[in-house]
Amino acid sequence: MYLIKAYEPDYIIFGGDNCERWEYTSQFFSLYRREIPNIKTALIPGNHDLWSYHKDTKREAIYDHIRKTCKEYDITFLEENPIVDGKILLCGTIGWYDYSAKPEAENTEFLIVNKGTMNNDGNYIISDIGDLEFAEQCKKRLLKNIRANQKNVSDILVFTHVPVLKETLAPPPYGKNAREWYMSNSYFYNFSIGKELLKNKKVKLIISGHVHRYMSGMSKNVHYAVCGSDYGEPEALFIDYDDGFLNIDRVE
Ligand SMILES: [Fe+2]
Repeated sequence: MYLIKAYEPDYIIFGGDNCERWEYTSQFFSLYRREIPNIKTALIPGNHDLWSYHKDTKREAIYDHIRKTCKEYDITFLEENPIVDGKILLCGTIGWYDYSAKPEAENTEFLIVNKGTMNNDGNYIISDIGDLEFAEQCKKRLLKNIRANQKNVSDILVFTHVPVLKETLAPPPYGKNAREWYMSNSYFYNFSIGKELLKNKKVKLIISGHVHRYMSGMSKNVHYAVCGSDYGEPEALFIDYDDGFLNIDRVE
């Protein structure tokens, strides 16, 4: 908080996995606004935000609850409300995984049915809408938001919870089982969104999260970074973007 106060950013953007117990969304926003009452703030949910620990609340109801609660605390729900600031468009989506990062030999249906053995989304996400359909909805919503606003801006900055670029696929850390690592990547990426974003010359920056490992680089002419926040080890990216100039400071 002291860094935010010292830095005085124009915007704070929560990139997902913000408050794992959806029942506490209101308390979380209330505490945040008590500390940071005036800085313009936007949010995209992460997969953990949509978990139902008691397995009694559907993902879509939780999503809706977060959307409504954002409004109460003057937080822009970036999924549905992109921000145009001068010549810059800020937009984003949770970007749900579409299994595009699965190992080629693995069967998508098998990975969907057995998700609970590899990823807790399989145990705590309750929904009638399958992963592939939800991922498609997220992509369509993001592209629609971009289409609706892009003619008035020169630069588009995109925030996604799950990474969307192939460059962000990382090899297994030392000591991890390689097969398990590559299998679990099935639940971490949506390359279909990245493919669409790279076609748009106004997209200048893509910031993502979800995979707990910091990365940055260029894909074609697009800068990207992945925030490396991990359990008990939060991280923030301080992004300075002005007329094509970009600087990213990683604060652990
Ligand atoms: Fe996540």
